[in-house]
Amino acid sequence: MAPNSLRPRLLTGDRPTGRLHLGHYVGSLANRVKLQHQYESFFIIADLHTLTTRPEPRHIKDIPLYVREIVLDYLAVGIDPQVSTIFIQSAIQETYQLNLLFEMLVSVTRLKRLPTLKDMARDAHLNAMPFGLLGYPVLQAVDILLPRANVVPVGKDNQAHVELAREMAHRFNNLYGETFPEPQALIGNVPTLVGIDGHQKMSKSLGNAIYLSDDKETVETKIKGMYTDPKRLRATDPGTVEGNPVFEYHDAFNPNLAEVDELKNRYQAGKVGDVEVKSKLTRAVNQLLEPFRERRAYYRAHPRLAQDILSEGIRRMQKEAHETMEIVKSATGLSYSTEMFVDEIDLFGEYGG
Ligand code: TRP
Repeated sequence: MAPNSLRPRLLTGDRPTGRLHLGHYVGSLANRVKLQHQYESFFIIADLHTLTTRPEPRHIKDIPLYVREIVLDYLAVGIDPQVSTIFIQSAIQETYQLNLLFEMLVSVTRLKRLPTLKDMARDAHLNAMPFGLLGYPVLQAVDILLPRANVVPVGKDNQAHVELAREMAHRFNNLYGETFPEPQALIGNVPTLVGIDGHQKMSKSLGNAIYLSDDKETVETKIKGMYTDPKRLRATDPGTVEGNPVFEYHDAFNPNLAEVDELKNRYQAGKVGDVEVKSKLTRAVNQLLEPFRERRAYYRAHPRLAQDILSEGIRRMQKEAHETMEIVKSATGLSYSTEMFVDEIDLFGEYGG
């Protein structure tokens, strides 16, 4: 790890609500692995964000299990603990502090305009919008700006939140002086990956995901059952490639471009069966996932290692957050509270002049 290096910084992360899947991979994880050597990188497991829709103890109780899976997913895809910092949001006390200050920098009207929040409320079957859910992107801005991150690799669904974080950094800097960089979203090669059922978006809650931790046979079964051109009944019927999830996956995961081209041509001409198209996709996806499975197995067999990586990451982020809060306190002028009330600098003596 290289603390205090001058490289620009990257922060992104995930809520611990389940294992990560191929949609996460093409939307953001692949970018993270690629960029981690170029940027000083921080990966947050955003447990506090899960409380915005699920504050119940029975959900909180499950968080540690999901944290474990996500840490393993990160390490499995190749996030390198030698250069990157992995940490848990709730372990950083400054998160709560900066969140309150940030709440003053954005209007309710602005937050209500975000379609993501209404979607989340609906998906969680909430009949009213919790104050904290409205503040979801404010908390996300805190995550991004606590380590003073410059770039944020995310899927398309999080782009509007990064845009808001940018506005909040701008607003803060205007009010209190240049403090935060204005962060930028980096969207992956496939901004939104379709689900195996043909639904617009791969998602755990829709049950249409291929997980990074799925074994070979599971991947094969899932791809065999994948939604494809519904109008094509026989291998000799000309098929449609555009908008066909099987081909969208070939484009996303099959590195053999010539093979993909050739399959598309034969598909459109009615000269290839689904079995061949799908088995070639299975091979490509399994080739991608195989090294992930090996690394995952390694860390599962060495639990102490993953534990140390996480606790080291938390300590590292705690230091960064502390530094940022010191800067924030002096920029806002809120340092008066320690100076005057705790360090007993003359406050009352000024009465008489
Ligand atoms: N909102 C992200 C999600 O959809 C999780 C998240 C929390 C995040 N804080 C972040 C992403 C900061 C990027 C940067 O799960």
